[in-house]
Amino acid sequence: MNKITIAIDGYSSTGKSTIAKQIAYQLGYIYVDSGAMYRAVTYYAMSKELIHKNDFNVEALIYQLDKINISFVFNKEVGFAEVYLNNKNIEKAIRTLEVSGFVSKVAAVPEVRKKLVAIQQKLGENKGVVMDGRDIGTVVFPNAELKLFMTASAETRAERRYKELVERGDEVIYESVLKNVQERDHLDSTRKDSPLIKANDAIQIDNSNLSLQEQFDQVFQLVTMAIEDLE
Ligand code: DC
Repeated sequence: MNKITIAIDGYSSTGKSTIAKQIAYQLGYIYVDSGAMYRAVTYYAMSKELIHKNDFNVEALIYQLDKINISFVFNKEVGFAEVYLNNKNIEKAIRTLEVSGFVSKVAAVPEVRKKLVAIQQKLGENKGVVMDGRDIGTVVFPNAELKLFMTASAETRAERRYKELVERGDEVIYESVLKNVQERDHLDSTRKDSPLIKANDAIQIDNSNLSLQEQFDQVFQLVTMAIEDLE
């Protein structure tokens, strides 16, 4: 069967990774979480103290980009590939509110984007990939056979993110999570380099009122049609 490229973009916490993982699993495709790569660079910058409170030493980060090696290793137990920074598993460490609070600023640096887009394109060069992010259908894979653009209200998304953080034991307040979601929406869609916009040929899915099963059924039908179109 011919393999296709599936690009899934959208605002933060729209459930992109949930649907991307389900589809990749169902098709036996590779799943790549491109947001994890921007988070990994942010985590690196924080651990090297290039980010401190509100100061961000952009020049130093650009200078050190060559020292940042990002890879994905499949973890059978969780069923997807986890992100590694210089051979260290940082899958959990990149999901904190601190990293979330700074990642949009790091993702706005053109040199960072250039490096990560090149890695993403390499990961998808043989097709059979489901990648989620903000610019996958517009910049990384403009020729993807299927492009989805996920949306949901900011409140629905903040509630989902809040639950996730509480479940993993973080002490957070809902209002801070909502504020972070709104701030990231703004930064991601107004930055100069590759802002978050829906590609003309992307199919928009608002999942505010969809169950996971309904969403999966809807998306899987689109995937099947895109594969059939190729054959
Ligand atoms: O999907 P996420 O919330 O883990 O992404 C983290 C941040 O990375 C998000 O605020 C925007 C940025 N990002 C990006 O600019 N381009 C991508 N392809 C993926 C994520």
